[in-house]
Amino acid sequence: MTETFKMVEFERKKGDKYPLDIINEEVAKEVKSFHESFPMYTETPLREMKNLAKEIGLGSIYVKDESYRFGLNAFKVLGGSYAIGKYLADKLNCDISEMPYEKLISEEVREELGAMVFVTATDGNHGRGVAWTANQLKQKSVVYMPKGSAQERLDNIIAEGADASIQDMNYDEAVRLANKMAQEKGWVMVQDTAWEGYEDIPTWIIQGYSTMGYEANEQLKKLGENKPTHIFLQAGVGSMAAAITGLYSALYGEDRPIITIVEPNKADCLYRTAEANDGELRFVTGNMDTIMAGLACGEPCTIGWNILKDYADNFISCPDYTAAEGMRMLGNPPRGDERVISGESGAAPLGCVAEIMTNENLKWLREKLQLNENSKVLFFSTEGDTDKKNYYDVVWNGKYPSYEKKQF
Ligand SMILES: Cc1ncc(COP(=O)(O)O)c(C=O)c1O
Repeated sequence: MTETFKMVEFERKKGDKYPLDIINEEVAKEVKSFHESFPMYTETPLREMKNLAKEIGLGSIYVKDESYRFGLNAFKVLGGSYAIGKYLADKLNCDISEMPYEKLISEEVREELGAMVFVTATDGNHGRGVAWTANQLKQKSVVYMPKGSAQERLDNIIAEGADASIQDMNYDEAVRLANKMAQEKGWVMVQDTAWEGYEDIPTWIIQGYSTMGYEANEQLKKLGENKPTHIFLQAGVGSMAAAITGLYSALYGEDRPIITIVEPNKADCLYRTAEANDGELRFVTGNMDTIMAGLACGEPCTIGWNILKDYADNFISCPDYTAAEGMRMLGNPPRGDERVISGESGAAPLGCVAEIMTNENLKWLREKLQLNENSKVLFFSTEGDTDKKNYYDVVWNGKYPSYEKKQF
């Protein structure tokens, strides 16, 4: 497969759109107060990379660094923890506002609910968040990982007390295995993607991610900035992208930033769904052996797509080397900018935009995206070096070089 840049543009739709009842400012505030009740909560930094912006021809670059989230090196715990909180609150017939961390982990709640097992499928980050939350609650978790998952990511999940294993199957098949086991054993499935008939928990997961977007918006305001002109969001199943797209659309309406979804060529199910644009979801099957492990998902999240189809502007499918380029740029920015340790899935949108800005053959994309020296671009570095070996191979040893690729 030749790797390349592809883009689908959506016309900004007027009139009836998917309602943003599940994701808006009010929801984001409620979710943030839940997360704030965790003793390990702190706002993650928003880095302004002035010199990098200048270097690649943009006005400003802001990067939300999620490697600082709860000491877990990725944003994903925001979703798993909120979904589990909501699930338990529902079981106990109370509101999430009555379920802060202290209550959630209390003996009283544990006794009332009895022993539970939370099960999920993951490339790593989501599973670590679910295992971590279950561990805080002194409950059990079972985690299935797809073929090719990094040993370090597996070890980190096991360290949270989970019964975790790498299966001989891809991510979407691992999701089906987790679902089957949940049904057979009466476990609680905490999956970060939705399908018909399985929507409550994924909705709560999407809502959980809103903390990251809400913080970024507040941090930009504190810096005296208005809204960004552009947001680039990486997508696996599209739940995270839907959370941020939905939130910014609720906050800014028609005046929202230009929102672009970024996926690897090898797992571009949302891009393909957008390209077909006929109301049917498109799946990618097989190994999806992209270096962006967190984005190696072939089946879009149904709820996420409902939001993205009405509020996202562009869908890009990009080559793997752009993620490596983003990792190197964020880890080694021009003098004066603070570095961001960003893993493959975290750095992909920045690498992709940098390539679009600096490769003359991609000028058409730059123009279509309206990217120029006045653009203020917001990125979410959704993970740090969650696979350290690969991180150092990329940023120190030059794995997945971009130099030759730039010559086309
Ligand atoms: C680091 C990272 N970024 C982004 C994503 C994409 O999230 P989603 O699957 O909701 O599109 C993932 C998913 O696992 C991830 O691990």
